Amino acid sequence: MSDSFYITTPIYYVNDRPHIGHAYTTILADVLARYHRLLGDEVFFLTGTDEHGQKVQQAAEKRSISPQAHADETVHRFTELWEKLEVTHNDFIRTTEDRHTEVVQEILQDLYDRGEIYRAEYDGWYDVTSETFVTEKEVEEGGPLEQQPNIIRIQESNYFFRMSKHQEWLIQYIEDHPEFIQPDFRRNETLGFLRKPLTDLCISRPKSRLNWGIELPFDSEFVTYVWFDALVNYISAPGYLRRSEPFDAWWPASIHLIGKDILTTHTVYWPTMLKAMGLPLPEMIFAHGWWLSGAAKMSKSAGNVVNPMDMIDRYGVDPFRYFLISEMTLGQDAAFTEALFVKRFNSDLANDLGNLLNRATNMVCSYCDAKVPTPPDDLYQDGEELELWNQCMAAVDAMETGVRTMKPNQGLQAVLEAVRATNRFFELRQPWTLGKQGETQLLERTLYAGLEALRITSALLKPVMPGCMQELCNRIGMTEPETRLDDLRRPAALTAGLPVTKGRPLFPRIDPVKETSEPPGKKSMNETPDKEPLKEEDGLITFDDFSKVDLRTARILEAEKIEGADRLLKISAMMGSEKRQIVAGIAQHYDPEDLAGKTVVLVANLKPAKIRGIESEGMLLAASKGESLRLVTVEGDLSSGAKIR
Ligand code: MSP
Repeated sequence: MSDSFYITTPIYYVNDRPHIGHAYTTILADVLARYHRLLGDEVFFLTGTDEHGQKVQQAAEKRSISPQAHADETVHRFTELWEKLEVTHNDFIRTTEDRHTEVVQEILQDLYDRGEIYRAEYDGWYDVTSETFVTEKEVEEGGPLEQQPNIIRIQESNYFFRMSKHQEWLIQYIEDHPEFIQPDFRRNETLGFLRKPLTDLCISRPKSRLNWGIELPFDSEFVTYVWFDALVNYISAPGYLRRSEPFDAWWPASIHLIGKDILTTHTVYWPTMLKAMGLPLPEMIFAHGWWLSGAAKMSKSAGNVVNPMDMIDRYGVDPFRYFLISEMTLGQDAAFTEALFVKRFNSDLANDLGNLLNRATNMVCSYCDAKVPTPPDDLYQDGEELELWNQCMAAVDAMETGVRTMKPNQGLQAVLEAVRATNRFFELRQPWTLGKQGETQLLERTLYAGLEALRITSALLKPVMPGCMQELCNRIGMTEPETRLDDLRRPAALTAGLPVTKGRPLFPRIDPVKETSEPPGKKSMNETPDKEPLKEEDGLITFDDFSKVDLRTARILEAEKIEGADRLLKISAMMGSEKRQIVAGIAQHYDPEDLAGKTVVLVANLKPAKIRGIESEGMLLAASKGESLRLVTVEGDLSSGAKIR
């Protein structure tokens, strides 16, 4: 029977620009969700956006639009990033949706009716920046009042949730359920917080101060304060109070994944709210550490925020996902620097995994007619073959344990160990020599064992690198990586005869020092069979090579068909003040009249050539896949002749 696994991320402030911290929590949740699917669990993975509050209201006012219209625009920053990062959430909740606001209001009304919420006068300090009440002690610690312009004194009526009455119960619950708050030192932190008397929680703001929020159903002069609204997303999304939806199948959640910054709200406010509602608590609240920029916390104000989009554009989605998951020991802080990224990429992906794929596929293509060889019956019976199989199984076990104990990086380490063991196995057996000596049987069982290791690796790494592992599988003839962990434990399950293909390096080595002009060790393409096949770095060009190509923007003036050549168009374009004529094979993809005005990218220093008797002074860049072709264009305002760097 499959288990249900419900995992959540924090819902992110819709006003923020997503940075690597947001990307990390979401990718980690995605990786865990994908692994649990591999384990055969039924998974519900929820993320979303937190859309009420002063900051959204103020940002909208500045733009003279409604807060809802503002949120409707900015939410795309998150949804688009998640799409780009291949995040497989099952639901995306926005706190401005009816399905959420209705639930919040029903809960508020119920708690009010049962005396769990009451009205009282508040006279004290308020921090306008964080929108929170602060204690006398906190104000004192902040220094002289004149130096804290964000702190004001307020007297106002508000509504309070009787959080204090649940204090003893919560302490007992945390002590009885050691797995509830993880890692352990975070549990101690919460228990430390609970050693001081717990106050009641102010859950409202008068509309005179904040009106962009959910109105209290029992007092229309107030809206509910952010946390009482936001935390409820975890139950409103799976359908709490909507009898028709499968709330009971998902609640209690298996894991609320959070950053350490929101520990108290999740381990104190939320459990007491659930207790008052009569609902069971989530099984685990897991707080991960910070991504630091060098040694400093990443923050907008410090200006050291890493934009995930930049990293993805430069290095691709999968290596970025791989780095985040392999580099952070869950719970601890981790440093993000590009140098660290490149180092891990080159060692794990280019040198180890990429190299293994390259070796295995090259040799199968050279010596086994580009087909998965047939495994002998006694494969994996003893010796180094058995050792290799055991190493692969150790990777499967370690990955399963790593996922169940929230240590996915340890699982990844074990998978990379298996990859390295397979490379060592090749070095020991020297299949390139066996091929030359005509030792076909030994050669075939060696290569089969190498491909099997790749079959297992691809399934174990797919949750982290979905696109690259799909590609890797295709190269060894499979349509997709295995979808069940148990299938990985079946030896020699790769079907003989599947077509194996060579291809471009999956993880081309990144040059850590861009300026270097030293060419990477090139090998002859006609190497003799007893040499090791090409490594991943072969086929790379240096930065110097690349900079020889002069790429420029050009604005198309007009285009026309060329008689007798149904693939070609004659195009005239301005490159700065210079007019260029280009013959391009794009007639089957563009009508000539649609091209005028486009800013395209031209290889400007290509030797002129005559095509069908017409002079062509350059080449246009285009992207093509299968039957489709689109020109590379430059968006926005940029005069033509600009150099592409
Ligand atoms: N809206 C609240 C959460 C409500 S949940 C019911 C909120 N939003 S947030 O946009 O500020 O997101 C905070 C979360 O982003 C953190 O808990 C963490 O998951 C992630 N991170 C933000 N910065 C981070 C780092 N520098 N490093 C790692 N993750 C961090 O708080």
